[in-house]
Amino acid sequence: MVEKEHTLLSRRHLLGRAAGAAAWVSAFRSIGSAGAQSGPSSSRSGSRIRNSFDFGWKFFKGDAPGAQQPEFSDSGWRSLNLPHDWSIEGPYGEREAAGGQGGHLPTGIGWYRKRFGLPGSYRHSKVLIEFDGVYENSEVWVNGRYLGKRPFGYIGFAYDLTPYLNFGGQENVIAVKVDNSRQPNSRWYSGSGIYRHTWLLLTNKVHVAYWGTYVTTPGVSKDSSIVQIKTRVRNEDTSAARCTLATAILDQAGMVVKSTEASQDVAANGEHEFVQQLTLARPNLWSVESPYLYQVRSTVRQQGRVVDEYDTPLGMRKIAFDADQGFLLNGERLKLNGVCLHHDGGAVGAAVLERVWERRLEALKEMGCNSIRTSHNPPAPEFLDLCDRMGFLVLDEAFDEWRVPKGQIGPFGYHLYFDTWSERDVTSLVRRDRNHPSVVLWSAGNEVGDQLDPGGVQTLRRLMEIFHREDPSRLVTVGCDQISAEPRAVSQEFLALLDVVGYNYADRWRDRAEKYYSIDRHAYPRRRMLGTESPAMCGIRGDYRGLFMSRTAGGFGGFGSSRGVDVEQLWKFVRTYDFVAGDYMWTGIDYLGETTWPSKLAPFGVLDTCGFRKDGFYFYQSQWTDKPVLHVFPHWNWEGREGQVVPVLCYTNCDTVELFLNGKSFGVKGYAFPRPGMELRYGNLPARARVPRTTADLHLAWDVPYEPGTLKAVGTKDGKVVATVEVVTAGAPAGIGLSVDREAITADRRDVAHVTVQILDDKGRVVPTADNEVTFEVQGDGRIIGVDNGNPVSHEDYQGNRRKAFNGLCLAILQSTAESGQIRVTAASPGLRSSSILITTKA
Ligand code: GAL
Repeated sequence: MVEKEHTLLSRRHLLGRAAGAAAWVSAFRSIGSAGAQSGPSSSRSGSRIRNSFDFGWKFFKGDAPGAQQPEFSDSGWRSLNLPHDWSIEGPYGEREAAGGQGGHLPTGIGWYRKRFGLPGSYRHSKVLIEFDGVYENSEVWVNGRYLGKRPFGYIGFAYDLTPYLNFGGQENVIAVKVDNSRQPNSRWYSGSGIYRHTWLLLTNKVHVAYWGTYVTTPGVSKDSSIVQIKTRVRNEDTSAARCTLATAILDQAGMVVKSTEASQDVAANGEHEFVQQLTLARPNLWSVESPYLYQVRSTVRQQGRVVDEYDTPLGMRKIAFDADQGFLLNGERLKLNGVCLHHDGGAVGAAVLERVWERRLEALKEMGCNSIRTSHNPPAPEFLDLCDRMGFLVLDEAFDEWRVPKGQIGPFGYHLYFDTWSERDVTSLVRRDRNHPSVVLWSAGNEVGDQLDPGGVQTLRRLMEIFHREDPSRLVTVGCDQISAEPRAVSQEFLALLDVVGYNYADRWRDRAEKYYSIDRHAYPRRRMLGTESPAMCGIRGDYRGLFMSRTAGGFGGFGSSRGVDVEQLWKFVRTYDFVAGDYMWTGIDYLGETTWPSKLAPFGVLDTCGFRKDGFYFYQSQWTDKPVLHVFPHWNWEGREGQVVPVLCYTNCDTVELFLNGKSFGVKGYAFPRPGMELRYGNLPARARVPRTTADLHLAWDVPYEPGTLKAVGTKDGKVVATVEVVTAGAPAGIGLSVDREAITADRRDVAHVTVQILDDKGRVVPTADNEVTFEVQGDGRIIGVDNGNPVSHEDYQGNRRKAFNGLCLAILQSTAESGQIRVTAASPGLRSSSILITTKA
């Protein structure tokens, strides 16, 4: 019976990858619901079982000496499911030890315990517990036996439970102590606790080793591709075993398209690495537009009996970084239109469920983003699954600190653990992530102080060796911010060791603000160059104080500073010159931390913490996509400014835009970039019609004396109107509008729906200045796991059932229960027409 279920899981998993978002979520659900039991319920001898271990934990916030002992009483502890982040539960405090780095949220020590049983039929299995991430300094015990400590909070790890387990009627107790009390220790918000998934993995004694496959595509073309599969098979039995490894490539429909087989004697307590090669004719290539995924299935047999079956994702793709051409995917130049992302999910803290990421990534995809830098640490495994499936290229970053402490972190950062742990942490990172086709480059570090340290070259050399040893198929970079620093810059010896030189803020330091990469291009023509971090359009969503040049908006840029224009100029350079492989702007999404009281977050994103789009989103969309983009801002509710000039701005990729207020034209405008003469000279710049070119910037601007009414913009391409938008003065708040990202979600206690609240006037228009408090009532099979409005200084509870709107909008995140049914969400606010929405939850 379990055997059947397992087959079903594998197949669903595969189908999920093929059939898009909904199916993927359902695949995850099927694994999740299997894990809803306290352990596997019946025996299976054929293969491995990997069940979620997230459900049914007990938690205590604080130290609990003796809690590792099985007999310890946790009856007073709180019951919860993982992933869990206690920091996000608040409250905020100006004096919280994590400071602005941690968003002024609490940290400290916490304990988790979970009881579980295992049927007697598993007595001969090997049993592992896997943690995808525990922040930080976790220590784990099973049945009172100490399993170990893992200081680094962003890495995944596993412990072998086999020797210490009870089977049959007797229960087992796992205890985890998490110590995040020494603060600050991370840039930026880390969260606290077992904030990523946990798994119980059961295998036979003969099995594919942990992270034991390494799949590469040494030759890729449209006609034929070579796949190399290295598979480590372990024999943990007391006698030698004759093992047969069958390796098959399955297409998205689950059909075997190619297979091979080999046999080998594996000594008792030994391991053998099989190296196999398969060639596929006319493969479906993996790309950003069409991220086709195959699966490599490794089946281990012993005397004709299947003893293990293990799946590895496979994307048929070729990557290259070239000093002249930049980045190439499958032989074609592709500019990396990148964003840096920190790991938190706003209202849910560090415990970011898959769908929360998926919705955010959908928005970034719509913006034309094709690449993500996981700044500054290893991401969750399912984040990379999403990138594989959705077609994002990932710059996978290991560390924010090596041996030299950073001033912003202080004495408790990763430098404390670097000498002892960095080799293990890098090895874990690479072995865990190297089979993801989305991962195209490793970053060994971000802005490490070691750039200027006498020992820095030595440290980098060692790290490069580890990355190259574990994955010779990819190159390695470091995000360097000291390339031309004064009075002392990073040495050329350091930079020469890097496969790709990562520039953080190429526009910093004297004439580089105008010349960017060209100085180094001239001096080091063989250098591969990438903008690993750059300034971006940012600012607080819907906050236009900067437009009027008040000092308040200056801090985080926006149009009150010249930052927007700087971003435009740098982007023109990056877009023009192929030798710059791409650019990762800081950041795609607002993140918790890096702030000063009373703010709790850094509004560098083009999406706020709710995932709501800011104006900057449309800048990138206008540059990174070909679909007509015509975005006009600010809003048009400027009561009290009648007759005064309000600058009206526009991001567009139309040839021309004409702006009208209440029918009166304010003129036709267009960008000069790309200039005549550049067109067709560089293959990546398209020819353009002869049109008015009124600005060297990448935004249009009109000075418009304010009067209420309708701003209308009309955009043309090749002489035809391709887009029209209106911004209308809204009336007073009158009602609430609700919308949901998906009307049906999976009833698995994991899936979520995002309900967006708009404060509307009596004509149904969003009131862009509204801050009404909204109360949510939830009936049926769901619960709220987070409410948010993106406001950096709001200290309202993320976990409550109420939220003030911020500039017209707020958000509630709803999670399913295990019951199929319906969730009715009603949003109400005094004096406003309330509103309800229904979400269906299905098994
Ligand atoms: C960078 C740093 C990021 C963030 C950013 C803010 O130098 O790598 O972590 O602090 O500055 O501008």
